Amino acid sequence: MTTTSLQPFTSATQNPITIRRIPAMQGMVINDLSIYRPDGTPLIEPFSLILQPGDRLMVSGPSGCGKSSILRAAHGLWPWGSGTIGIGESLRKLIIAQKPHLPLTNLKGIVSFPDFSHQHDDEAVATALKKAGLGNLVPDMNDSAKDGSYWERLSGGEKQRISFARALLLKPDILMLDEVTASLDIKAQDELYSAVLDTLPQAIIVSISHRMELAKYHNRHASIQNLKLSLQDAASLDPDGHVSCPVCHATHPMRPL
Ligand SMILES: Nc1ncnc2c1ncn2[C@@H]1O[C@H](COP(=O)(O)OP(=O)(O)O)[C@@H](O)[C@H]1O
Ligand SMILES: [Mg+2]
Repeated sequence: MTTTSLQPFTSATQNPITIRRIPAMQGMVINDLSIYRPDGTPLIEPFSLILQPGDRLMVSGPSGCGKSSILRAAHGLWPWGSGTIGIGESLRKLIIAQKPHLPLTNLKGIVSFPDFSHQHDDEAVATALKKAGLGNLVPDMNDSAKDGSYWERLSGGEKQRISFARALLLKPDILMLDEVTASLDIKAQDELYSAVLDTLPQAIIVSISHRMELAKYHNRHASIQNLKLSLQDAASLDPDGHVSCPVCHATHPMRPL
């Protein structure tokens, strides 16, 4: 018998995850969200969470515990589970995966994606590329002979910089980053997160990462262990503002609100 990676809905998905766009709301509300595997086995037990503008939540936990599935659920790409995700009607959200999508268009189009490149002027795209540490690519950005297949030759870290340029250009209200610094060193990671915080101070940022040096850029922290998501907010940190990591068991500084 052959199997496919995506399986049909099971009884566990009779009440799939509902995503609602809510008028006049400025944030994001997760209400009683549970996440299952496609075969119906639980991944994360029900949890609730409110994210306000300017909140920056870091999510950590062992590989395979369901971190990316939360982001997929928030984008309607993971129906297996139950609960509701409410998002302010006017808010723009952008999800950035570990491996960026490089569409078959020139670099300006790649950075502008999913917008059309004509929606952004050259200067804005050049600024975003420079802030992301890719100023050397600006002269090539309108070269239509250099499309996504050409830019595949960039290193993993440079491709992740393209993702950051996209976030810095599109300025979403909700930015979800899934292991987006995995191929970058700590200095580059610091430069890019600082650029995001400077450019998007009021954005809701959800970062999935096991790199706890990133904790200091977040005011909230959620860890997933044994099917449970537990929230550790800045208010509940130790007096020096440290959070303990469920993966490496060390303590790390977090920036308070
Ligand atoms: N399309 C899919 N079909 C079936 N199982 C999947 C699919 N995508 C992910 N999974 C499984 O769901 C679990 C959670 O995956 P994921 O959310 O990607 O974990 P992580 O915490 O590492 O981001 C894993 O066991 C993974 O193998
Ligand atoms: Mg993942």
